[in-house]
Amino acid sequence: MLSIKKLESGYGSMQVLWGVDVEVGERRIVSILGPNGAGKTTLLNTVMGFIKPWSGRILYQNIDITKTPPHKKVELGINIVPEGRRLFPQMSVRENLLLGAYNKRSREKIEDTLELIYNLFPILKERKDQPAGTLSGGEQQMLAIARTLMTRPKIMLLDEPSQGIAPKVVDSIMNVLDRLRDEEKITILLVEQNIMAALEHSDHVYIMDQGRIIVEGDAKEIVSKIPDYLRAFIGL
Ligand SMILES: Nc1ncnc2c1ncn2[C@@H]1O[C@H](COP(=O)(O)OP(=O)(O)OP(=O)(O)O)[C@@H](O)[C@H]1O
Ligand SMILES: [Mg+2]
Repeated sequence: MLSIKKLESGYGSMQVLWGVDVEVGERRIVSILGPNGAGKTTLLNTVMGFIKPWSGRILYQNIDITKTPPHKKVELGINIVPEGRRLFPQMSVRENLLLGAYNKRSREKIEDTLELIYNLFPILKERKDQPAGTLSGGEQQMLAIARTLMTRPKIMLLDEPSQGIAPKVVDSIMNVLDRLRDEEKITILLVEQNIMAALEHSDHVYIMDQGRIIVEGDAKEIVSKIPDYLRAFIGL
């Protein structure tokens, strides 16, 4: 569904990504794990087009989208839940969701999508008239995911959804990702520092360090492949 081939990018003259190859099959949850500063956010932002690729290619459903701007990617069915959530804190939960439905594909389906979201995250229905800034951290993360879902993505990129969230809430968010894959047929590319949660819910895992993919494998075999020097950094 998504093929990232020998991707390189960075900021100014500083190169961050070095020949990154990642394959994401349709209806799979694929995780990218790695220590702080490994380049995980840079990778997701380069795939979205917020950062320009320097070289390499990105293919989506066999179309070359290496140079496609972010808003066109959203129309094609690719969207991201960014690091740090970026909600509008004074606006209500419902208003934040409606602002998410900015693309053509989503507009006709707003009511259906809201129903899907309230089914996945019942707490957001209860809180729909409350300002987003008054939600708990976990609820805000749910809202960030839900707002991205408003655009009806076929593949969703998530940048550390478990950041700063209690373990129980992390579980419920990870279970929603499973449901999105199984029931809504959404493909997921997940960046995580919560190794245990990611291993439990991923079909395939890549480990990134210093802008390079150093090992990959399925969730069961990857643990034994991780070099010792990295284990401490990623909490194994
Ligand atoms: N806007 C920016 N301008 C310049 N350098 C940046 C910028 N954003 C990130 N970097 C640098 O790029 C490198 C990779 O950062 P990135 O944010 O992609 O890492 P990460 O794996 O997402 O880390 P974390 O787990 O802490 O979120 C780091 O050395 C970082 O300092
Ligand atoms: Mg990051």
